[in-house]
Amino acid sequence: MNENCFGPTKFNAVRIPEIAQQWGTPLYLHDQQYIENSCDQLLNMPNPFGLHVRYAMKANSDRTVLRVVTGKGLDLDCSSLAEAARANSAGIPYTRMMLTTQEVPTGEERQELETMIRAGLKYNVCSLTQFRLIADFAKESGIELSIRVHPGAAGGGESQTRDTGSEYSCFGVHLNDVPAVKELADEMGIRLTQVHVHIGSGGDPEKWRENIDRELGFVRDLFPDAVRVSFGGGLKVARMSGEKQADIAALGAYAARRIAEFKEATGRELKMEIEPGTFVVANSGHIITRIIDKKLTNEMNFLIVDGGMELLTRPLLYGSEHPVTIIRQDGTLLSSEYDQIPATGTKPYGIVGRCCESGDSVRLDGDGNIVPVLIAEPEIGDYVVIGGTGAYSESMSPENYNSHRKPAAIMKMRTGEFVLIRKKQTLQQIIENEVDVVL
Ligand SMILES: Cc1ncc(COP(=O)(O)O)c(C=O)c1O
Repeated sequence: MNENCFGPTKFNAVRIPEIAQQWGTPLYLHDQQYIENSCDQLLNMPNPFGLHVRYAMKANSDRTVLRVVTGKGLDLDCSSLAEAARANSAGIPYTRMMLTTQEVPTGEERQELETMIRAGLKYNVCSLTQFRLIADFAKESGIELSIRVHPGAAGGGESQTRDTGSEYSCFGVHLNDVPAVKELADEMGIRLTQVHVHIGSGGDPEKWRENIDRELGFVRDLFPDAVRVSFGGGLKVARMSGEKQADIAALGAYAARRIAEFKEATGRELKMEIEPGTFVVANSGHIITRIIDKKLTNEMNFLIVDGGMELLTRPLLYGSEHPVTIIRQDGTLLSSEYDQIPATGTKPYGIVGRCCESGDSVRLDGDGNIVPVLIAEPEIGDYVVIGGTGAYSESMSPENYNSHRKPAAIMKMRTGEFVLIRKKQTLQQIIENEVDVVL
C-alpha cells in the first residue's frame, strides 16, 4: 500500500494540493467507487424473500450522488416533498421513491403530493392526521399505503438527538394511535401493505436486532395485509479508527432468520426493506480545507482553517468525531487520525473555522468546549482534510452563515478522474431573493 494514502478510500495525499489548486478550498470531495461498494454490500444482505434497499437521500441529496446510487439499483427514501421533487428533477421516477415525512401537505402541496402518488410515489403514513387526510384519495385511487410505526422504545440512536424511537421523539404513528388508523383503514377498505420502523441513526446494532423482533411482532399482531417490512436505516459507520462499524452481513443474517421463522409461524412471506443513508455515503466523503492562520492562547494552540461549521455541523450538533488528516503543500501526508499515523510525535491543536462562533470547530465535547486534535505540526498553507463527511454535511449545514458561500463539490469517478459535481455558490445567489425595501 502507498504510505502516502489515507482514510477508508485510501486517498492519495499527493492529489490534495492539485485538487485544491484546481477547484479552490474549502471543497467537498466524494468517491464513486466507495459509494458503489457500499451499495453492493447492502444489496448482498442476506434475506429469505427478497430485499429492497432505499437510500435515505437526506444524507446527501446531490444529483450525481443520487444517480450513482440509483444506478446501482437502490431506490430512494425521501423525507419531504421537496426532496422527492429534487430527485425527480435529477431524472429519477417517482415509482422509485417512498415519502416518509413530518409534513402535512395542504393546498398546492397537497396537489403536488397527489400528482407524485399518481406517478408512483409510495406514501408512508407517519401520523393519524396524515392518514385521515390521505384516506379518501387512497380509496379513490386504489393505492396501498405503508405505515411508519413509532415503537415507543428508546436507544436506537447514537445520541438522544438521533434517537427516533423514544417517547421523546415524535416520528411515525405511535402504537397508541395504530388502532384508530386500522379502524379507519378497515372501514374504508384501504390496505396497509408495508410496516416501517426507523429507530434512529448510528445506534448499537443490538438495538437494530431488537427492533427486528419487535417490528415483526407488530406485523404479526396488527397488520394482516403487510407483505413488506422496512427496518429503516441507522446502520452504524466507523468514521474514527476506534469505532465499530455495523456488520451488515450479520445483521442481514439475523433479519433473514427472523423473517424465515415468521413465515414458519404465520405462513406469511415478507419482503425486507432497509433505508440507510449514512452507510451508503458517509465514508465516501472528505472536506478539504486550508490552514489560513495559527493562534495561541494560554490554554490552546489553534489552527484556523477556511471551512468549519458552515460545511459540517455534526460536531456542534451531535458532538460527532471526524478524522483529521494533515497534508503538506507538496502533498506529503503528515498525519492521519483514521490510519493512526504517525504513532508518536503529534501535538494537540484546536482546529477551528472562520465563523464568528465559539463552537465552530471540528472537535467539541458534549458541553461545547473545543477538544484539541492530535496531529503533526503543520504550517499555514497546509491542508486539513476532514473525513467521514459524505453524509449529513452538504445536505445539513448552516451554509451562508457569515455569508460564506456554499463550496464546490467534486467526485472521484470510478475511472480515477475528478469531476466537478456542484459549482461554488455565488454571492449573487445568496442575495438574489432579498428585496430592496424603500426605507
Ligand atoms: C426515516 C429515516 N430513514 C432512514 C434514515 C437514514 O438514517 P441513517 O443515515 O442513519 O442510515 C433516516 C435518518 O434520519 C430517517 O429519518
